[in-house]
Amino acid sequence: MQVSLGAASLRPWKIEDALALVEAANNRNVWITLRDRMPHPYTLADAEDYLQQRTRDSSGLALCIEVAGRAAGGIGLHPGEDVSRLTAELGFWLAEPFWHRGIITAAVRAVVPYGFKRFR
Ligand SMILES: CC(C)(COP(=O)(O)OP(=O)(O)OC[C@H]1O[C@@H](n2cnc3c(N)ncnc32)[C@H](O)[C@@H]1OP(=O)(O)O)[C@@H](O)C(=O)NCCC(=O)NCCS
Repeated sequence: MQVSLGAASLRPWKIEDALALVEAANNRNVWITLRDRMPHPYTLADAEDYLQQRTRDSSGLALCIEVAGRAAGGIGLHPGEDVSRLTAELGFWLAEPFWHRGIITAAVRAVVPYGFKRFR
């Protein structure tokens, strides 16, 4: 999935996003309201592990939010299991300098209909 949101765009993650990912994600204000699987501090090794994992794992959906030509956040759908198999959790985060510009609102509006089409 690749989509332009005006000020931002959604696209697959690339291995070359590692440095920008660390810069965006290594922030307590971003980490504090996310699930425990998000490391803090967020190191270059964490970014490289995550990006390698994304190239191997095609389940669900995990997209990079690009702002001004650089990776600046993520949005994804994580499928449930067992009795939750027909549900998915929508997760998202954005680098703090870009908060309150409506970027995540636009990203959610794009990902939700796509998720209903692509998954059961
Ligand atoms: C939450 C987050 C993704 C919002 O991104 P954003 O691009 O600034 O969001 P938008 O500009 O589209 O919308 C902002 C609006 O969302 C609402 N909002 C944001 N954070 C909120 C929160 N914690 N609780 C309730 N509403 C919230 C507010 O109404 C806000 O309006 P405002 O800009 O007038 O204050 C960003 O703050 C972030 O990355 N936070 C850390 C990670 C996180 O909490 N992710 C969500 C959990 S999965």
